[in-house]
Amino acid sequence: MSLMRLAYASEATFDAKPVEKGVEPHVARILMTSRKNNAKDQLVGGLYYGNDRFFQYLEGDEDAVRRTYDRILKDERHRNVVTLIEEPLSSRTFSNWSMKYVPLSRDVRNFLDEQGLESFDPASFTSDQCERMIDLIRNSSHDQNLANHDNRQSVGEAPQVLSSGMKVSLIVAGLVLVGALVIGGSML
Ligand SMILES: Cc1cc2nc3c(=O)[nH]c(=O)nc-3n(C[C@H](O)[C@H](O)[C@H](O)COP(=O)(O)O)c2cc1C
Repeated sequence: MSLMRLAYASEATFDAKPVEKGVEPHVARILMTSRKNNAKDQLVGGLYYGNDRFFQYLEGDEDAVRRTYDRILKDERHRNVVTLIEEPLSSRTFSNWSMKYVPLSRDVRNFLDEQGLESFDPASFTSDQCERMIDLIRNSSHDQNLANHDNRQSVGEAPQVLSSGMKVSLIVAGLVLVGALVIGGSML
């Protein structure tokens, strides 16, 4: 069985929905499918999404990588796909992840700053820059959240303890309590 690795850049065709936290819904769907299929095919790698651009890295059995890439190329959720790396691989370089995500990308922003790049435009990455992106994905200890470098929440920011739904519920409960006290008081 021969192994290969592949990286590409592309542009999203959908209008990204603003999300307070977590993953953009179109991207979340892509991730769900990818996780399911890639685990079955023992493909590993990572997907980065930001600035309406994708950067994806895949490695695994050559047939599986090519079959997957053929499907990806036909996908209408992105366009202008540019293949950045497509070459044989002697051994796997990722541990057992079907798809890995860089966290809230302070790392990626540092990388862009360091390289003097103003925005995330992976189609114009040099091969060194591609390798750096792959290292960022490989060394990321997070497995949950897709990196989205448009998300300006800083890493040091205090976590949101209450969701907005819970806040509304608490305010309504407070108003009901005050109302009950007022009515109760007027009945005494
Ligand atoms: C940017 C992008 C990355 C994707 N990455 C993968 C992937 O790694 N693996 C995968 O199976 N499908 C991936 N897809 C989805 C495929 O294009 C296709 O919709 C999917 O493989 C179909 O799977 P299904 O037949 O199980 O529905 C990606 C799509 C996009 C737009």
